[in-house]
Amino acid sequence: MNKQKYLIAANWKQNGDVKSATKLINDIVKLYKKNQPKCDVLILPPAIYLSTILSRINYYKIPLKKISLGIQNISPFIEGAFTGELSANMSKDFKCSHALIGHSERRHVFFEDDKTIASKTRLSLESNMITILCVGETITEYNKNLTKKVIFRQLKSALSKSLELFKSDHSKVIIAYEPVWAIGTGKSASLDDIVNIHAYIYKTLNKLLGTDHHMIKILYGGSVNNNNASSILKLPNVNGALVGGASLNSKKFIDICSSI
Ligand code: 13P
Repeated sequence: MNKQKYLIAANWKQNGDVKSATKLINDIVKLYKKNQPKCDVLILPPAIYLSTILSRINYYKIPLKKISLGIQNISPFIEGAFTGELSANMSKDFKCSHALIGHSERRHVFFEDDKTIASKTRLSLESNMITILCVGETITEYNKNLTKKVIFRQLKSALSKSLELFKSDHSKVIIAYEPVWAIGTGKSASLDDIVNIHAYIYKTLNKLLGTDHHMIKILYGGSVNNNNASSILKLPNVNGALVGGASLNSKKFIDICSSI
């Protein structure tokens, strides 16, 4: 069983404006200072607000090890004529330590394929960022009992270009299991499904990498809220959560962080 320091990540997605993002981070930091949760916290704001969020975290003198910053998506290319794209290295100018790769909204709304996700994973690791690789099945795949098959394919292909980087430093990769049908629906996966799939992810990583990789964190995401967080976070092989909707509410988010 894998239990290490928890990570609770706030994926703000494409929400808010500079005023609301500033208020949200101020409120999160104040509640964090008051409640002193035991977990590490990661904020993934819209990239255009990274500078604002960073300056607020610095203002409150919170070490970036405790509340760290990440980017929600990176370009599959290092640099060049790629209008609208942002690189992992650019995000590091704003002290981002983490990059979210292969989120289901990137896969299903923006049609990112396994090959693109493998390139992004490699670039993120080459930039020395902690790479949060998201995997998860659609409702159709779930109903056809294809979850494990889909997750095996997603893990194998995403890591295919980075196996040697991954093997040399396990602390640089985090897996987030986010069933697509549980995202934003208010209906999280059952505790049994989470236990089963997280164990399967470990087994698969061991198989792909050839050794025991029990130090790799696996987060659960999909309708995590302040009511269900404590029962989900207690499960074996769950090392944290990737929170969408509830992370836009400072109280709910810090309640989730404090539920450990
Ligand atoms: P919700 O918490 O809104 O279901 O979103 C989950 C998610 O996609 C986090 O990345």
